[in-house]
Amino acid sequence: MFSGLNKFLKVILPKRLFYRSLIIIAAPIIILQIIITVVFLDSIWIKANKGMTRSLVGEIKTLADFHEKSSTQINLLADSYKKNFDFVINIKSAPLPKFVSERKFSPMDRSLRRELKSAFGNNNYWFSTTKHKEVVEVIIKNNDKILQFFFPRDKIAPSSVRIFLLWITLPSLLLIFISIIFLKNQTRPLVKLAKAAEKFGKGEYVNEFRPSGASEIRKAAFEFDRMVKRINRHMTQRSEMLSGISHDLRTPLTRLKLQLAMLNQKDISEKMSKDIDEMENMLNDYLQFSKTQIQEENTSINLKEFFEEILKDINKKNLHLVKIDNFTLSGRKNALKRCFNNLIQNGLSYGKNVYLSINKTPNRLVVLVDDDGPGIPQDEYRNVFKPFYRLDKSRSLNTSGVGLGLSISEDIINSHGGTIQLSKSKYDGLQAKISLPF
Ligand SMILES: Nc1ncnc2c1ncn2[C@@H]1O[C@H](COP(=O)(O)OP(=O)(O)OP(=O)(O)O)[C@@H](O)[C@H]1O
Ligand SMILES: [Mg+2]
Repeated sequence: MFSGLNKFLKVILPKRLFYRSLIIIAAPIIILQIIITVVFLDSIWIKANKGMTRSLVGEIKTLADFHEKSSTQINLLADSYKKNFDFVINIKSAPLPKFVSERKFSPMDRSLRRELKSAFGNNNYWFSTTKHKEVVEVIIKNNDKILQFFFPRDKIAPSSVRIFLLWITLPSLLLIFISIIFLKNQTRPLVKLAKAAEKFGKGEYVNEFRPSGASEIRKAAFEFDRMVKRINRHMTQRSEMLSGISHDLRTPLTRLKLQLAMLNQKDISEKMSKDIDEMENMLNDYLQFSKTQIQEENTSINLKEFFEEILKDINKKNLHLVKIDNFTLSGRKNALKRCFNNLIQNGLSYGKNVYLSINKTPNRLVVLVDDDGPGIPQDEYRNVFKPFYRLDKSRSLNTSGVGLGLSISEDIINSHGGTIQLSKSKYDGLQAKISLPF
């Protein structure tokens, strides 16, 4: 039963922390106000109104009785009432007004009707609380005459009800307004932290993050900042080490190449220089890999121009652009270029034709890179993303590479908050599906 209630609450409650906290503060205020208003109206206002009406109708009844007994002396009493009680009495020979002027949902009219009915009987009275401003008119049928009474409305209704409602509503509105300002200030640092975490998750550069707000949020922000710095330091260390090693090794390699060129035994030197060339290529790849780790600023990229640039650089007849949806994306341009270059180069070296298709979905960019090569067995899909992992040796394909291309590409896509998946292409080869949020 409780889980049902929980589910129901989850559906009806707003999702954002700010609105939830606002409900926590505003709901008790509003409920309290409703209870106080109901209790006040019922027990104080309605009861006071009843008592006052009863005593007023008692006075009218006294005057009417007096009129019935001695119609000559009534004028004297009327004068005295006018002077002392703000009561105007007219005695006329006319019928009771025909129209009904009682308001349906007014407690004042209801209690006046009840009292008049019990004092004078069903069809012997008429009254109106609305015909005159702040004055109530009551007409009583007495034998062949009618007695017309006018008296101030506050004789039967305490006038404080509106002021009371105003006084109880205004402070609550003020309280809610103040809590909105406070809540906004409390949730702002949390929203800032969430945005920074999202940015960092996408691989964007997070500047110095200043903790603010309540101590718990401050602590979370402080720890987040420390974590960001530690991860950044770790990544920089890793790439600096890799680039240092690759860079240092290139100098002795160049020296070796020179020495080989001067060697007399050409058959050995040719084989050795081939190996050295391969080593040099590898070192270049390592250098490139370490460069992807270096933080590049995010820029807005026009996709049409971006892919046209890539096509121009590769400049191959068998690279086909199937479809391109034009829009702009925010990302690290050089890194993304490297990623798509790697995928296209793989397709071109393992297959013959490469087909590029760029699609826009409501919140993601989906790029498909298809080729008509031999593809990759399904159980190797995960392995080929590992650095230095290659399938070619077992397949004896004659391509050179170190096995870093896919791992670099995955790194770049993940750092943009995207995913990369391999599957079988409709062109028989491999399909790489890159999905990027924007
Ligand atoms: N389009 C493809 N078709 C078939 N096999 C592929 C394809 N792309 C990658 N592979 C396989 O996955 C392995 C890893 O690819 P990856 O791009 O990481 O390295 P590489 O191409 O061998 O070397 P490089 O670092 O020069 O890119 C490759 O050795 C190859 O066997
Ligand atoms: Mg490759």
